[in-house]
Amino acid sequence: MSQPASFRSTWTNRWAFILVTIGSAVGLGNIWKFPYMAGSQGGSAFVLVYLVCVLLIGLPLLMAEIMIGRRGRGNPVSAMLNVAGETRSSSWWGLVGWVGVVGALLILSFYSVVAGWILDYLFKALTGFRVETAAAAGASFKALLGNPGQMMVWHSLFMILTVGVVARGVIAGIEKANRVMMPALFLILVLLTLWGGVAGDMPAAWHFMFEFKPADLTPGVVLAAVGHAFFSLSLGMGAIMAYGSYLDQDSSIGATSLWVALAGTLVGLLAGLAIFSLTFAQGLEPASGPGLILQTLPLAFSSMPGGQIFAVFFFILILFAAWTSAISLVEPFVAWLTECLGIRRGPAAWGTGLAVWFLGLGVCLSFNNWSAYTLFGLNLFEFLDFLTSRIMMPLSGLAIALFVGWAMGRDPVRDEMRLPDGAFSAWYRVLRYLAPLGILLVFLHVLGGIS
Ligand code: PFF
Repeated sequence: MSQPASFRSTWTNRWAFILVTIGSAVGLGNIWKFPYMAGSQGGSAFVLVYLVCVLLIGLPLLMAEIMIGRRGRGNPVSAMLNVAGETRSSSWWGLVGWVGVVGALLILSFYSVVAGWILDYLFKALTGFRVETAAAAGASFKALLGNPGQMMVWHSLFMILTVGVVARGVIAGIEKANRVMMPALFLILVLLTLWGGVAGDMPAAWHFMFEFKPADLTPGVVLAAVGHAFFSLSLGMGAIMAYGSYLDQDSSIGATSLWVALAGTLVGLLAGLAIFSLTFAQGLEPASGPGLILQTLPLAFSSMPGGQIFAVFFFILILFAAWTSAISLVEPFVAWLTECLGIRRGPAAWGTGLAVWFLGLGVCLSFNNWSAYTLFGLNLFEFLDFLTSRIMMPLSGLAIALFVGWAMGRDPVRDEMRLPDGAFSAWYRVLRYLAPLGILLVFLHVLGGIS
């Protein structure tokens, strides 16, 4: 179905927007990346800095991105250009939209491969897979990484699932998928956390995540935590801007953003508690890198009462989280193709998917046949992760803060936000000073090589 260029969908209501945005935010970042980052970056020190970053930088930027999307009424590139035009700012700001759109596709290329691992483990869980020792669990994950063909099959399937939803449209595809998957995700997460509390070692998990040890607080930990705050709130990559562009004029941006930040963080913390309590109950180490949940959890599931069923639930939970996030990574570019080139949504979505899928094949190979090919000492997977989370996201976040705080001028911003005076001043000041300074400091550390 082709739509006239002037037609723009609007989410059914404010809650639909909150749901899809939480869907974008809560993803592999919260359930796969957060535990191993916390595990390898000092546990509670990482968690606390992460929470502070979400509150002080993440939430204000989330509001700023939604605001630009809604004011600009277009895909991230057009939205930036429209708002820049309206406020007589330079059209160079359109580049920020491009960094987001391209960054989102780069993220998707490896995100889909990791989601493919989850599909593989879901399949294993459904077919009664058991591992008895940590060595066996490690070996089975290694076997998957050593088998590019198997990874490519799952990666392809995940891309088809993702693009299939985006191709159906904003309401009939994206909103509908989130309406089914997100409530299921919350329900499963609560069940799993309760089970983690009964069958796992919740006190140890709590201690690891929340008992602050100042000695663990290093610049590297701060850097990782800021980067993760961006990643887990989907900031700087056009996804939030694109979703914001479908938000109706009556919804309060402040209140909706607060919901998204709170729910996203809560899901991350609950998932962390569940995962660490199972990890510690098995006497395992949390610091084992990207394979953490795929190595420790199958072992926990194999040896605990009810584990077989919870394994299936757990992998469905991660699949839904990954799927709803991946959808939001495709949408910005698809919106650009439909709005700026007049391509119909279906071909635009499948074409985009094909290009990302192709890059993802390289990511599958970077774990095995191509592992010797490195850029700056990083294989393709690590390079794409570093480039997007540590460079493109903070840069784009910095630019958005500067755009809203300095280039747009106070009046249009105030007009679009409609916040109470005190809240507006506080938020605006954060965007003018704190956010740019914070991001800049972090960024200089990245360039200085601290990691
Ligand atoms: N927030 C997602 C997660 O935590 O898994 C990842 C993500 C989605 C990042 C969309 C960026 C984005 F634009």
